[in-house]
Amino acid sequence: MSRKRVACLISGRGSNMAALIEAAKAPDYPAEIVLVVSNVAGAGGLATASAAGIATATVDHKSFGKDRAAFERALQDTLAQHRIDLVCLAGFMRLLTPWFVGQWPHLMLNIHPALLPSFKGLDTHARALEAGVKVHGATVHFVVPEMDSGPVIAQGAVPVKDDDTETSLAARVLAVEHRIYPLALRLVAAGRVTVAGNRCRIDGGIVPETELLVPSEGT
Ligand code: GRF
Repeated sequence: MSRKRVACLISGRGSNMAALIEAAKAPDYPAEIVLVVSNVAGAGGLATASAAGIATATVDHKSFGKDRAAFERALQDTLAQHRIDLVCLAGFMRLLTPWFVGQWPHLMLNIHPALLPSFKGLDTHARALEAGVKVHGATVHFVVPEMDSGPVIAQGAVPVKDDDTETSLAARVLAVEHRIYPLALRLVAAGRVTVAGNRCRIDGGIVPETELLVPSEGT
């Protein structure tokens, strides 16, 4: 089996990146995380990746001033140098232009802490509480030029409890993120996902793992 070479793009602590690194340790996992790139110097996830023996790079958007195109070219060059097959955005807090997105058609994944298409953008947990929804969750989707859009690969749902705060809800969602991102990457890397319009079809039908995405008591 030739494993897909994956780069994670991060801006912060990198807990989703860490979940992908952990999952990819399984011998039958069809992808390996070979590179972690941060647009923020000193992002916490860089140390985690280095400790796991993974190559890291910083492409600091600030050093490019307002030249977003130059920043993205540098990013793309870094990915090319490492012969990357798939890109996983994992808490990467920069909007990407259509040019960059176009380099990775159905080859770039993102995780968003809400059940898309609800609550695109930032502060999703606060907005879910404000809206009074009873179910919240996380989504892994292919990246398209429009922010927090694109064909959904996997979702995981959690209940919203009466006494939830933004912090408690975020923690419950994050636990689900750490399960669905490795699942989604595995499906994509194994070639089991085909995109038809805005829908992903999963070869093999319903993915049994989705049954596991109900949080256990107390979380
Ligand atoms: C996660 O909630 C992810 O869904 C969002 O940003 C956060 C990143 O957290 N896109 P981490 O850096 O993966 O811990």
